[in-house]
Amino acid sequence: MAWQAGRIPLVAGNWKMNTTVTEGVALTRQVLDQGLPGDIEVAILPPFTHLVPVRDVIAGGAVLLGAQDCFWEAAGAYTGEISPRTLAEICELVLVGHSERRRLLDESEEAVGRKLRAALAEGLRVIVAVGETLEEREAGDAETVVHAHLAAAFEGVDAGGAARCVVAYEPVWAIGTGRTASARDAQSMCAAIRGYMSSLAGADVAAGMRILYGGSMTADNAAELLAEADIDGGLIGGASLKPAQFAAIAAAASAARSTQGS
Ligand code: PGA
Repeated sequence: MAWQAGRIPLVAGNWKMNTTVTEGVALTRQVLDQGLPGDIEVAILPPFTHLVPVRDVIAGGAVLLGAQDCFWEAAGAYTGEISPRTLAEICELVLVGHSERRRLLDESEEAVGRKLRAALAEGLRVIVAVGETLEEREAGDAETVVHAHLAAAFEGVDAGGAARCVVAYEPVWAIGTGRTASARDAQSMCAAIRGYMSSLAGADVAAGMRILYGGSMTADNAAELLAEADIDGGLIGGASLKPAQFAAIAAAASAARSTQGS
């Protein structure tokens, strides 16, 4: 499925390290059976091991396929790593910079930037995840932290490369906790991200860039978040494993699109 230009809402399901291959294939079928809206983009990001069989299930349909991470080199002696070149043969997009990788695997700002550049070089679209911890928010540093994530991720990326990226704002304290950012706070940070991307990549790229919210987004809170002017979709963890919930979030994104007339 071709990636569409412009700020068409994107609802991406990050399955994380959940489901076996068999369960993942079944889950994909269940997601497709929900009847997803045709006026937004929907992506699923299963574990690496599932990419080929899941691709075969979604083949010819509108759902995009993505990986949850990649390495920063295209080939070589890097035992256990996954090449963005290999991924480009299987899927359209890749997520980099997820906070679980930054925190649990000590992934540095520099590593995120290298991965981003390597993925773009192989023709992949990239979802770049950024977001502050609770301590950083309470200290009043949320925007500074997010700006630092963006500056490092986009270092050396030209406007054409940035135009193939999506930024996902995921406050760490909201991920998997059931505690969602308020629509107001999420909008405020997404607007700040757009402003900062304007200085990094130019006003045109920033104006056309999709900025997602992620962190305990569910069918219950999606509509309110997606109604905000600078929130162009969601990166969904837990709720992406529940087909009806995931489809309801996609429907909310579609409804927000028609309301905003974008
Ligand atoms: P969550 O995860 O929806 O389970 O909070 C979001 C994410 O980590 O992408």
